[in-house]
Amino acid sequence: MLFVTRYSQPQHMSILSLRPAFAISRSTQALKYRVTNSKAPFHLKKVTTMAVSKPDNIPDGDFSNYFCTYGYLYHQKEMLEDQVRMQSYYDSVFKNKAQFKDKVVLDVGTGSGVLAIWAAKAGAKKVYAIEATNMTVHAKKLCENNGVGDIVEVMQGYMENIELPEKVDIIISEWMGYFLLRESMLDSVLVARDKWLKPGGALYPSHCRMFLAPIRSNQPSKKYMDFQDSIGNWNDFSKTTYEKYGVDMQCLSPEFEKEQTQYFLQTSSWVDLHPNQMIGPPKVLKEFDLHTCTLDDVKGLHEEFELTMEAKETNGQETQVSGIGGWFDVHFRGSEQNPATEEVVLSTAPDEQGATHWGQQAFWLHPSTGVSSGDKFKGSLHMLRSKENHRLMNVNITFSHNRLVDGQLYAAPPRKCMYNIE
Ligand SMILES: C[S@@+](CC[C@H](N)C(=O)[O-])C[C@H]1O[C@@H](n2cnc3c(N)ncnc32)[C@H](O)[C@@H]1O
Repeated sequence: MLFVTRYSQPQHMSILSLRPAFAISRSTQALKYRVTNSKAPFHLKKVTTMAVSKPDNIPDGDFSNYFCTYGYLYHQKEMLEDQVRMQSYYDSVFKNKAQFKDKVVLDVGTGSGVLAIWAAKAGAKKVYAIEATNMTVHAKKLCENNGVGDIVEVMQGYMENIELPEKVDIIISEWMGYFLLRESMLDSVLVARDKWLKPGGALYPSHCRMFLAPIRSNQPSKKYMDFQDSIGNWNDFSKTTYEKYGVDMQCLSPEFEKEQTQYFLQTSSWVDLHPNQMIGPPKVLKEFDLHTCTLDDVKGLHEEFELTMEAKETNGQETQVSGIGGWFDVHFRGSEQNPATEEVVLSTAPDEQGATHWGQQAFWLHPSTGVSSGDKFKGSLHMLRSKENHRLMNVNITFSHNRLVDGQLYAAPPRKCMYNIE
């Protein structure tokens, strides 16, 4: 779904004003930046002249934290430009036209209406296109101008509160966030499934998987240097403030350091990994069958993992693992009773052609750790929704580096790492 990730981390200490846009993508935070930041590059500043009004149906907090961004065509366009995303959804509909022919379809979170339009063009007899934001105005216009205004009924409201006149054969939705679950929009799809999907009906997509792999990169050492710069800058600032204005800021140094640690060292990064940055094969962390999983299943994760290193030694030097990469794929298989003719897969794995707008999430290790082939990271990943904003995630990774020596694995003491996915 969201963007801004294509910009790189700011180099220096304008971070307090720049942070939202750079650290947070695919969510409202980016927009907050665009609306409020006076140092925004020109094309971002232009957005300040636009206004998205809050529809009555959306609670204040969720509007400013989440939906607000989706009310902008600028942002819908970012998603519409992701060709891997678009082609996968397009194929999932048009390679399975027989499944859509004469069916009643529900599009959860229709945005600009593109999935609803495709469902109608593939032969659906009726499509209910639900969208919380005022994007419905544009979606209606798009449906009418693309000749499906009589089939697609665009309805504005929270999916959870919408009343439909009938049950549906297919639910289609693009709900995935970073590392699959960020944004928590899957909840809305599951609520819709339980209330509106006919027995035997199909979800598009129907299955998804989350992956982990050990990765290498020079980004974390740069992040660590930026962190140190930031602390050094605080000390200079503190000294100057005392000398010039007589206020001693030093008592706030621990708080500043904590804040900066969270920002630089405990926030996962959006990355566009090349496959050769993986130091071992990816492992499936978790699978969901969307026809059967429950709201509780997707509220949090507690999964064990075992990653095996396939490291090449260079000049006798061990390979450095600088982090653990995470991503997802989704599968369009239809349902058991109405299976897809052709299964389509949308993958966000590291790709030499470049990343989708979801990229991958990197959970950096500070410090990195040297590994040899056959070594293993054995551990667990615990992911919960942030207490402050249920659409963001807190991740705890605990693992032990098991070194392979003479055919035996020796476990080092466990490392515990905390991250926010923002
Ligand atoms: C990632 S966008 C996808 C838009 C469009 N379906 C597409 O594929 O281009 C998700 C959309 O769902 C909407 N949305 C999220 N949760 C919703 C809910 N509970 N009820 C209605 N709309 C929702 C958002 O406002 C956003 O426009």
